[in-house]
Amino acid sequence: MTDKERIATELDAVRRRSLALLDPVPDDDLVRQHSPLMSPLVWDLAHVGNYEEQWLLGAVAGTRVAAHLDGIYDAFRNARKDRPQLDLLGPVEARTYVTDVRSRVLDVLERLELDGDGLLDEGFVYGMVVQHEHQHDETMTATLQLRTSTEYPLVDITDVGDAGDADASLPSEVRVDAGPFLMGTDLEPWAYDNERPAHTVDVDSFWIDTAPVTNAAFVEFIADGGYDDRRWWTDEGWAWRQKAGLQHPEFWAPDGAGGWVRTRLGRVEDVPPHEPVQHVCWYEADAYARWAGKRLPTEAEWEKAASWTPDGVKRRYPWGDDPTPFLANLSTSSRFSPAPDGTFPGDASPWGCRQMIGDVWEWTSSDFMPYPGFRSFPYREYSEVFFGTEYKVLRGGSWATHPTAIRTTFRNWDFPIRRQIFAGFRCARDA
Ligand code: AVJ
Ligand code: FE
Repeated sequence: MTDKERIATELDAVRRRSLALLDPVPDDDLVRQHSPLMSPLVWDLAHVGNYEEQWLLGAVAGTRVAAHLDGIYDAFRNARKDRPQLDLLGPVEARTYVTDVRSRVLDVLERLELDGDGLLDEGFVYGMVVQHEHQHDETMTATLQLRTSTEYPLVDITDVGDAGDADASLPSEVRVDAGPFLMGTDLEPWAYDNERPAHTVDVDSFWIDTAPVTNAAFVEFIADGGYDDRRWWTDEGWAWRQKAGLQHPEFWAPDGAGGWVRTRLGRVEDVPPHEPVQHVCWYEADAYARWAGKRLPTEAEWEKAASWTPDGVKRRYPWGDDPTPFLANLSTSSRFSPAPDGTFPGDASPWGCRQMIGDVWEWTSSDFMPYPGFRSFPYREYSEVFFGTEYKVLRGGSWATHPTAIRTTFRNWDFPIRRQIFAGFRCARDA
């Protein structure tokens, strides 16, 4: 496949995903706001079209079709909670708009020379736009999950099953050797600015769990009174636990018989014991880790355990450099849920860590900071304006993340109180 063919294929694939995701949603639910944390779905749809227009028509070819929409779909000018009040394109108009932009983008792509530095180097700006739409598809999936009283009508997600424990002979934690490793990347063509530049980080030896914390393990924390025991929480975490009344992961409820049910895309079902826990905030993850006698891994520890071989070679994915066949539970598996450890055999990193890509985003202990030598590219509002101590870094992607938007160097971030994202965690400890 040529680079242009690959780009056209990826553009087509992400648009099919976006439209398929929204297809079962009635128009009045597309324009409604399901949570003040989220945009109306129809905002996301036109926003990805506007982003594509700005970069793949405006920046690449100097042409625009609807520049007057830039203000409405500017994520910075409009906070999510205010987006329902904007003069938004309706569902029909939004679909027409994104389709119109796309056909012009494909015309431009056909005429373009794809080399040169900067935006077009190795098709970077196309990769940025493809990833951006996939990221919004994950955000829209989180919005759909927040519509708790509406069953999202996908026939193949009613019973995800549970394969049971992974091979019980596998260790529950592994020791990663001390020593320098290469963090971030200079080589990944579609990497975001916040993943660059590659740089050496010296890491002490540490132990890290081979799998994310499961629902069954998290239930033990709850049963042991973990939510009511001040000892496990930081000051800020305890203040938030009190204020928000946290008692269990979001979307969980007692089943009346001492167990737990969860609401998943509008369906109430038993909490599957072997799946990674999700919909916990950073404070809950941090408290659990302290209860378990452990801590969250730093971002550097996580990346070393996921990407570095004991022989000193960097990998794009835990299992190697080749993205296909994708050995992880990402959006392409259409599972709409995390999977039990062992469902995707062969996904382990050289140290033996499983489920590092897919299933749940994993909270790390690290604040979202620039790497040494960071340069904003191609715009400050993707990463730079978020750097600081307010946000915690998440790694590895979830069941709602697409393969083009995840690799061992990929960095996500959110506030430590957020639970609507598909986030869980694994624990680590000093060696
Ligand atoms: C990387 C997921 C934090 O949703 O705010 C979407 C991705 N950036 N549009 C976000 C993003 C611009 C971003 N996160
Ligand atoms: Fe965006």
